[in-house]
Amino acid sequence: MCGIVAFTGTVDARSILLGGLARLEYRGYDSAGLALLNPKTGLIDIIKKVKQPGRGMVEVLREAVPENSASAGDDSFFVATGIGHTRWATHGVPSVANAHPHGDCTGEIAVVHNGIVENHTALREELLARGHEFRSQTDTEVVAHLVEEYYVACNEDLVEAVRAAVARLSGSFALAIAHAKHPKELVVARNDSPLVLGVTDYGAIAASDTPAIIEHTRDVVYLGDRHLAILRADGSYECQDPAGIVYVPTTVRVEHSLEDAERGGFPDFMLKEIYEQPRVLRDTIAGRFCAANKCEQAHLNFDELSLTQEELRTIERVVIVACGTSYHAGLIGAELMEAWARVPVSVEVASEFCYRNPIVNSHTLVVAISQSGETADTLEAVRLARRAGAHVLGITNVVGSRITLEANTTIFIKAHLEISVAATKSFLAQVALLTLLAMHLGCVRNQLAADKMAAIFSELLALPEKLESMLADVNSIKEAAEKCKDASTMLFIGRGVGATTCYEGALKLKEISYLHAEAFAAGEIKHGPLALIDPSANTPVVALATQSATYEKMLANIEEVIARGAHVVVLATEGDERIAKLALQGIDVIYIPKVPECLSPILASVPLQLFARYIAVARNCDVDQPRNLAKSVTVV
Ligand code: M6R
Repeated sequence: MCGIVAFTGTVDARSILLGGLARLEYRGYDSAGLALLNPKTGLIDIIKKVKQPGRGMVEVLREAVPENSASAGDDSFFVATGIGHTRWATHGVPSVANAHPHGDCTGEIAVVHNGIVENHTALREELLARGHEFRSQTDTEVVAHLVEEYYVACNEDLVEAVRAAVARLSGSFALAIAHAKHPKELVVARNDSPLVLGVTDYGAIAASDTPAIIEHTRDVVYLGDRHLAILRADGSYECQDPAGIVYVPTTVRVEHSLEDAERGGFPDFMLKEIYEQPRVLRDTIAGRFCAANKCEQAHLNFDELSLTQEELRTIERVVIVACGTSYHAGLIGAELMEAWARVPVSVEVASEFCYRNPIVNSHTLVVAISQSGETADTLEAVRLARRAGAHVLGITNVVGSRITLEANTTIFIKAHLEISVAATKSFLAQVALLTLLAMHLGCVRNQLAADKMAAIFSELLALPEKLESMLADVNSIKEAAEKCKDASTMLFIGRGVGATTCYEGALKLKEISYLHAEAFAAGEIKHGPLALIDPSANTPVVALATQSATYEKMLANIEEVIARGAHVVVLATEGDERIAKLALQGIDVIYIPKVPECLSPILASVPLQLFARYIAVARNCDVDQPRNLAKSVTVV
């Protein structure tokens, strides 16, 4: 989604803003802009650009930023204060006029905004009626004009003007506001859209996400809903609640490094993040297992859960809500929870759950999964569940994210910063964590024996090494990708957790390569999708046929599609001789190490991630920033 950086200080704001925006490019954008307080003219210079094919947005913006603000040739001053933005269009087409920052009628105010002002139409009409002139189609521009009005009404008190303007807004917003008459301060405010602040020896900075800040400081503050903060050039800030009461906020130490936010020698973040997965798995598993001792059976440690064991035993239903890849992780978690804890589990796409009066009550455990912790649909589902009296467990990757504030309990996956829009390592961490949670529920509810749990756990412990061995030789994946890169569409088939792994594999392929793909439970193909297969149609089939209870049935499905002339790529278990024989007939085989069926999604999804990535690269797609998509979807 959009990115915000705001800085005021004693060093040149231009390089800090551009550097920050560059670190937010991964979020996806179609245009970008800066507002710089020009000390020579006392005015605000606004520079905006639309994305150009094949060029980095910040690179284009950097060229357009005058060396010394408006006064070329004079290097005796620097710009102390400015705000920057990368935009992902919601209201109004991608264009220079709609790019942020937006100004008021006087030219003294500049605003950048993430989120959606839901009552912008009514506000715009009201402001137009009072003579304001609008230059864009955006919802954001009303904020600039509202601040303009309240600035006069509040006797040129910028903070009060922003507070009054913000009180008029409904919807979600993270805002940074600059005023030409206040060259040494900025005001920021937020509701339902992330905003973090930090200070350094050389100024104060705010941004919509930590990568834009951690180069300057690791101690950050997550601003509360409808709170605002004043950033000052002397390197201080002041936080205020909606009533204007000043408070000292809690500072959170950001643990991920700047290196995490960089590619570390890989050609793209997605590949880097795929290769980080053994480490992510180790971190996710670490510290969870408590071996049996004289007094206690082996058990798992889930100290973060605020539910007592008795409460876990009396849960009548589990409802998992999530979107996209997180939803797929939820589907896998649901199968395991039902199998081990014998509790009914439903998995709901969050954007549907919110609008269909679901059955949720105080005996329901709602598990909300979101890598970013900021997905608007998932947050809406959390709110609905809380209103209905359910206990909400959030599973997220981001400390301080919205979901951590709204859920009753949060468990963090240990994926560390994920930059590529396509989720990979966060998916693996979610699946691993849900596997552990399903085992824990099973033990607490006396449905999974401690020795069986310990046996599964030891298999889980062996996975990072198996994953490393897979990642050491990816030639078969590359070869299969090369053969499929020009397909007209692709089908993915599997059964049980294998089908869900395929849903995720197909999503990954669509998302980054723009090649259409659909996944099906393999038993369903004869009920329709088989009609798509035709030797002349170039419709390869990816089949997940690792060792499982439905292995024989999968082999039959593979024979069905081979018989109809499809090119087939099979994911099989190392040492599978029957698949090896099929390979002699020209199918592609990607082998994965032997693993119990319940853990197979963790290993099998990795070759599918790589398969999608190699196809995307072969099709010259921007792997990390697929068109039309954003890393965190903060609008419903
Ligand atoms: O941050 P979240 O996990 O809530 O995000 C949900 C989806 O937007 C996300 O998984 C999306 O589908 C990814 N682009 C998939 O790679």
